[in-house]
Amino acid sequence: MKIRAVTSLEKDSVHQVHCSAFPEEERELVANLAVGLLSEKTTPETISLVAEAEGAIVGHVAFSPVTVDGSDRPTYILAPLAVTPNHQKQRIGTQLVETGIQQLTQMGVDTLLVYGDPNYYSRFGFSEATAKPYLPPYELQYPFGWQGLVLSDRSPPTSPVRINCVAALQDPALW
Ligand SMILES: CC(C)(COP(=O)(O)OP(=O)(O)OC[C@H]1O[C@@H](n2cnc3c(N)ncnc32)[C@H](O)[C@@H]1OP(=O)(O)O)[C@@H](O)C(=O)NCCC(=O)NCCS
Repeated sequence: MKIRAVTSLEKDSVHQVHCSAFPEEERELVANLAVGLLSEKTTPETISLVAEAEGAIVGHVAFSPVTVDGSDRPTYILAPLAVTPNHQKQRIGTQLVETGIQQLTQMGVDTLLVYGDPNYYSRFGFSEATAKPYLPPYELQYPFGWQGLVLSDRSPPTSPVRINCVAALQDPALW
């Protein structure tokens, strides 16, 4: 199994990974987000990593930059993440997330945000407390899922700051 950057020819495979992993009511929304992020041209870059096993794409994760009002702190959000059901529980999700975290740390990113299950993301050190000052663009359906991970040695913001996401994430249904 290897983790590598996605190529421009892999949209269908990325869509398929998310469709296979997410429940029916969410799968189109999340798969379309994953594909939408592949065409985001951002500075700094939007990162998409895939896990390849025996020539097939079996996992995908994306990291896109967010701007923080009144601040130049490099900040990213992790979304979405999926591993195909028959390849789960083999640490592929962990390796996708950890590879992204390494890359973002080398880029000098300050904080990585995520909106997902704390039972999963806490294993990487994400916490609700770290995300607290960052106000998401829409009201959250599950506020406990809003978490952050500090990647630098700069101290976190002390007062609330509004964040702005890339176009693909600007859909209230995702939040
Ligand atoms: C979440 C997901 C990406 C994990 O991928 P994976 O390759 O199986 O992850 P890993 O093998 O690195 O870790 C598996 C562990 O995470 C646990 N796990 C998976 N989903 C979890 C969740 N929502 N909450 C808590 N733990 C979870 C598994 O039970 C397993 O635990 P174990 O290590 O004690 O056996 C995968 O289960 C998936 O695609 N799920 C559906 C899509 C999804 O929910 N994505 C967003 C994540 S919040």
